[in-house]
Amino acid sequence: RPAAPVEPLADMGDAEDFTAREIDDQPAAAARLVDSLSERLAGGLLLRELGVPARTRLRLVACGSSSYAAHVTAAVLGSVARIPAHVVVASEPPPPVEDPDVLTVAFSQSGETADVLTALEHWTDPVLAVTNNPRSTLARRADSVLDLACGPERGVAATKSFTNQVLAGAALAVALAAALGRLSTEDVAGFEAQLRAAPEHMAATHRLAAPPADRLARDLADEPAFIYVSRGAGVPYALEGALKLKELAYRWVEALPAGELKHGPLALIQEGTPVIAVQARPHDRLAVNAREMTTRGARLITVGPGEDADLPVKAPAVEPPWGPLESVVALQHFARGLTRLLGYDVDRPRNLAKSVTVE
Ligand code: G6P
Repeated sequence: RPAAPVEPLADMGDAEDFTAREIDDQPAAAARLVDSLSERLAGGLLLRELGVPARTRLRLVACGSSSYAAHVTAAVLGSVARIPAHVVVASEPPPPVEDPDVLTVAFSQSGETADVLTALEHWTDPVLAVTNNPRSTLARRADSVLDLACGPERGVAATKSFTNQVLAGAALAVALAAALGRLSTEDVAGFEAQLRAAPEHMAATHRLAAPPADRLARDLADEPAFIYVSRGAGVPYALEGALKLKELAYRWVEALPAGELKHGPLALIQEGTPVIAVQARPHDRLAVNAREMTTRGARLITVGPGEDADLPVKAPAVEPPWGPLESVVALQHFARGLTRLLGYDVDRPRNLAKSVTVE
């Protein structure tokens, strides 16, 4: 079933920049995607319709923000489908190993990233493209295509394509688990309900987090460097939020799983160092790391559902296997707010291109 017609966001509407418009459009884009996938996960119907073989080992290939969506997908494949999946940074493909039971999934908003296209030359297994451009070079090269249905994304920094890649990857993992008989019908229905709820949590976070994100940006405008941490399912969102800050606001950011701090980066923390901590459940392990940092003088900025959070999010009562997706909406607002305050071009950051067609 094709995705519902996509509203072309070719102009900015009332927004001040394309990035703002695209952050704002995320819940609608997510709802379009989830609607198009709904009721196609049971029994792995989605895979049959796309012509994707139900393989039991996955290789996920991507660059930049798409690679963080691939990391979320790998985690969901592990927890929901018990399928081992590894993420390949497309510019560093490992030597080919013959394995007849592997499916390669290439995540690329544009479908034109040269590193991704070149990486695919290393392997012979079937390729599923998860892309926002079903007419792209990647889509033509792939054996099957999952359309992200985001509409145009003009800001160089990925926003709605990232959140839709996460939801598409999660749906793929559930469909694969269903096709392999590893989930009950009730479980599949439960995950579908969680997918359908995601757009509303993103929309509510959009409303909740935007004003505090702008205040925080004003407060931290003079800070030259940041640390972004999380644990478990939150780690890819901390990495993605940090990438927004680097590419848009030109700030140095160390982003890592919080448990790794004690193995080196803790030495960076001085009085007032801003540390942005993305909460995922369970919270306790992140709280231990937070204490390690605050006792050394870090300024802790929390992103989470609690009333005390500095960047509040609207999280579902039960965290889905793809973790705190809504947290990235708050981090996008913060990065955009700081970028505007500093007077940089939000849509066209220096040195970067929307689609990198050279290796
Ligand atoms: C460029 C963009 C990034 C994007 C990456 C991968 O570097 O600036 O925002 O994440 O390419 O792009 P793709 O189109 O393959 O998802």
